[in-house]
Amino acid sequence: MAEALQNVNVLPSSNSKKRPNPNDSNRDDFVAKKPPTSNKPNWEDPVSALANARHEFGEHGGVNMSIEASATFTVMEPETLSRMFAGELGPDRDFFIYSRHFNPTVLNLGRQMAALEGTEAAYCTSSGMSAISSVILQLVSSGDHIVASQTLYGGTHALLTHFLPRSSNITTTFVDIRDLEKTKEAIVEGRTKVLYFESMSNPTLTVANIPELSRIAHEKGVTVVVDNTFAPMVVSPARMGADVVVHSISKYISGGADIIAGAVCGPASLVNSLMDLHQGAFMLLGPTMNAKVAFELSERIPHLGLRIKEHCHRALVYAQRMKKMGLKVIYPGLEDHPDHHLLKSIANKDYGYGGMLCLDMGTEARANKLMNLLQNHTQFGLMAVSLGYYETLMSCSGSSTSSELNEEEQALAGISPGLVRMSIGYSGTLEQRWAQFEKALSRLQDSGLFSKN
Ligand SMILES: Cc1ncc(COP(=O)(O)O)c(C=O)c1O
Repeated sequence: MAEALQNVNVLPSSNSKKRPNPNDSNRDDFVAKKPPTSNKPNWEDPVSALANARHEFGEHGGVNMSIEASATFTVMEPETLSRMFAGELGPDRDFFIYSRHFNPTVLNLGRQMAALEGTEAAYCTSSGMSAISSVILQLVSSGDHIVASQTLYGGTHALLTHFLPRSSNITTTFVDIRDLEKTKEAIVEGRTKVLYFESMSNPTLTVANIPELSRIAHEKGVTVVVDNTFAPMVVSPARMGADVVVHSISKYISGGADIIAGAVCGPASLVNSLMDLHQGAFMLLGPTMNAKVAFELSERIPHLGLRIKEHCHRALVYAQRMKKMGLKVIYPGLEDHPDHHLLKSIANKDYGYGGMLCLDMGTEARANKLMNLLQNHTQFGLMAVSLGYYETLMSCSGSSTSSELNEEEQALAGISPGLVRMSIGYSGTLEQRWAQFEKALSRLQDSGLFSKN
């Protein structure tokens, strides 16, 4: 019983009944041809959008959807199979072929992701990196060019700097996206296919001017791809003009630090092209999400908003207190953060300013000493990469998740060697955790390695 509470269509478009001719480039279907008439974001609260999305019930009337665990699907007549392969029958009419292609449970999670991000469709993958690499390979061909922010997650930076030029003859120009003029100049009309950036950068927490960057890209026919891993619910890039939103679901959306997953959210034409039998990066590279994983994740999205609010609340309180103590804290919720007003103007109301903060301890030695005390002496958090977990996670970015960037690239990206990135958790009470932080800091001061300003 796959029943719809509300008939909100987040299925692939009706085009999917007939797969596009593989020789047709349908890339143009989702590139905005003209600049938006207004820069005003099309606000829709993500929690409301999720509540309005279709709710799937279980096969026996269960309040939760059933898991379609099958790798393959049977048909009643032999002709049906060939009609599915010819693209006449598809998932929009409940016809499924094989789970590397559309799977009903993964598709349901995709509907939730589309509602969260305000896109027409979405589909989920086995990791954030597979979502990012697949969508880039779908949008950009050999000889084409990308303009990207110089401050990106290390894995994405390495993909663009090293892997894609070698494997696919795809080159990237990195720019400081805060400089809109320079970003515009870097676009080579006709050759640049994608403008790629993070809504809130990893790890430096700079905020992208999504409406303006989208306007600039669209004027030149360039597709805007935004990684919103650091700011789900807080920022909705597609509602401000971005064409495609990618996620590492492994982080906030999962929240459990137990699953690696990703998503591509965008127009139905893009999702269908990714699944094309002849030309689709999802279909042919096979970054498939398991249906059991999709079910697990779909159970976590309804409380994502509550979790995000608490992550953000604690990050703001700690950042304010750290600043008062004289620490060099980077948090876009602080009034003196260079992007505070920009974030305020683009953020969805009432979620906050993100759950990540950075402490610049000056040197790696001091950063390591602080993290060691915070984990092993006071139990404030855990030394680990990743983010969005209920426990606080801490890592020194320069020597971990951004180590793919060389010294010069790290300096350009604004990553100091002593930068400690913290994903603020919500376990324990706020005051209990703060006392643990204070205790570790005074131990650091006692050791003579650190003195407050
Ligand atoms: C901003 C950002 N994007 C993408 C990724 C890659 O995601 P995954 O680890 O799920 O492949 C990460 C991982 O750390 C990330 O921080």
